[in-house]
Amino acid sequence: MSGFESKLSLYTGMINDKLEKIINIPDAPERIVYEAMRYSLLAGGKRIRPVLTAAVAEMLGGSLDDAVTAGCAVELIHTYSLIHDDLPCMDNDDLRRGKPTCHKAFPENIALLAGDGLLNMAFELLSAPGSFKTIDCGGSLALIRCLASASGVRGMIGGQVIDLESENKQDVTLDNLTGMHGKKTGALIEAAAVMGCIVSGFTDENCHEILQIRRFSANLGLAFQIKDDILDVTGDEGSLGKPVGSDEAGGKNTYVTMLGIGGADARLREKTDAAVAALNFFGDRACFLRELADALLRREN
Ligand code: IPE
Ligand code: IPE
Ligand code: MG
Ligand code: MG
Ligand code: MG
Repeated sequence: MSGFESKLSLYTGMINDKLEKIINIPDAPERIVYEAMRYSLLAGGKRIRPVLTAAVAEMLGGSLDDAVTAGCAVELIHTYSLIHDDLPCMDNDDLRRGKPTCHKAFPENIALLAGDGLLNMAFELLSAPGSFKTIDCGGSLALIRCLASASGVRGMIGGQVIDLESENKQDVTLDNLTGMHGKKTGALIEAAAVMGCIVSGFTDENCHEILQIRRFSANLGLAFQIKDDILDVTGDEGSLGKPVGSDEAGGKNTYVTMLGIGGADARLREKTDAAVAALNFFGDRACFLRELADALLRREN
């Protein structure tokens, strides 16, 4: 295993251990919603967002344990967004993380509420006394604000609305698409990375660390969604763990419909290069993040 791979598996191991402990199924009439939440959260998933939180914090000298906790809050929000994204009224998909989607494994109304449950649990985790060893109330509040704004109407939810409003439209421009991708996917990836700065004591929005990490992760987030659009056409269901051709079936505008595979791939490389350039500020300390950007460029799932 390379140094990069062993670091990645250390991070994902810590993240999965923490996620495993977050939701306990009670012996209560509402237990089914806990089962649905656990089902989707622990179905697998690359854990890219909490890995970013952990890697940024380690690079900046923050507590790895606290970064994993903060990153798990992002993963709770991300999993909720996937449950809702797959619903019949959204993308109407049947497979996620290699398993039937939440609304296929559970009644649709329970899946909807499981998404809501994960959303609220994220903020409970960030605000609970004892969640963090090295972060004070001001730090928790900064984490909460960062995650709330990135996942709300100015971020992920706003992007999902633009996505729905753009279905089957002919007049969508590349700028529109970049704006949509930045919000629906970029915002949460950016928040995950910035939360690594906050965990490490960098809370001033104008400090060099946050500015450069924002530049890195905003570009990485765009690259991530461009690759997602490409894999929806060129990937295979077995390795993706979700259906291919979902975008075409939903009448979506994507980088591939707009630029073709070759054009989308060129943009993917351009955005990855821009992300990596922002890491120069951190010198050798950023070697894991550089390798992560490269792995995400080449990913097959
Ligand atoms: C899928 O995200 C949805 C997008 C925002 C592109 P991921 O590709 O990170 O999905 P998991 O978490 O690995 O399942
Ligand atoms: C989803 O984009 C972005 C979210 C906020 C969940 P997609 O709809 O392309 O994600 P997948 O392909 O279903 O994972
Ligand atoms: Mg979608
Ligand atoms: Mg989808
Ligand atoms: Mg997709």
